[in-house]
Amino acid sequence: DMEKKLQELKEYISSYPDFPKPGILFRDMFSLLRNPNAFKDLRDVMVEISKRNIPDAQAVVGLESRGFLFGSVLAIELGLPFVPIRKPGKLPGELNKVTYQLEYGTDTFEIQKDAVTPGLKVLLVDDLLATGGSLKAGCQLIEESGGVVAGCLVIMELVDLRGRDKISQPVFSLLEF
Ligand code: PRP
Ligand code: ADE
Repeated sequence: DMEKKLQELKEYISSYPDFPKPGILFRDMFSLLRNPNAFKDLRDVMVEISKRNIPDAQAVVGLESRGFLFGSVLAIELGLPFVPIRKPGKLPGELNKVTYQLEYGTDTFEIQKDAVTPGLKVLLVDDLLATGGSLKAGCQLIEESGGVVAGCLVIMELVDLRGRDKISQPVFSLLEF
């Protein structure tokens, strides 16, 4: 069943103490992607959880850059448009922007205005939920663009950091650390 599969998938995530900075325990999802069967199982679980919990999604939005890997797979499987949210200066055309807080300083996310039609129901995807700053900024950008965040999906959640407390929309995570 799904719980057993998720337990197995968790074993594929390698952990690196003090990367990229002292005190950070880095959870590397690329060790899972190296195993084709594990990646396929992960895809199947993402699809099942999305269909069950966010059945009315009309588009998948992925956060740069690791969110693109999972968001694009999910978009294909669900038969929905894929829309990227990017770091500044990368997207052409008319953009909406949001500036958000990092541990140190600030960063900006951008989305193409014509990608979000009024009331568009969005499934927002990222690889990992830590402090929640990125996901919250993504939600804000979608809603300021006229869309509605129907739900967020992350592969990994660092539960001790309580990032989900910052997000008012429903958040679904596959692997808890
Ligand atoms: C990482 C990760 C999440 C974010 C989570 O992104 O992919 O997007 O941090 O942290 P938070 O919950 O504290 O905001 P990073 O900016 O390292 O970008 P990358 O995906 O391009 O590697
Ligand atoms: N992004 C933010 N925190 C992270 C962590 N601990 N591992 C991997 N990616 C991250």
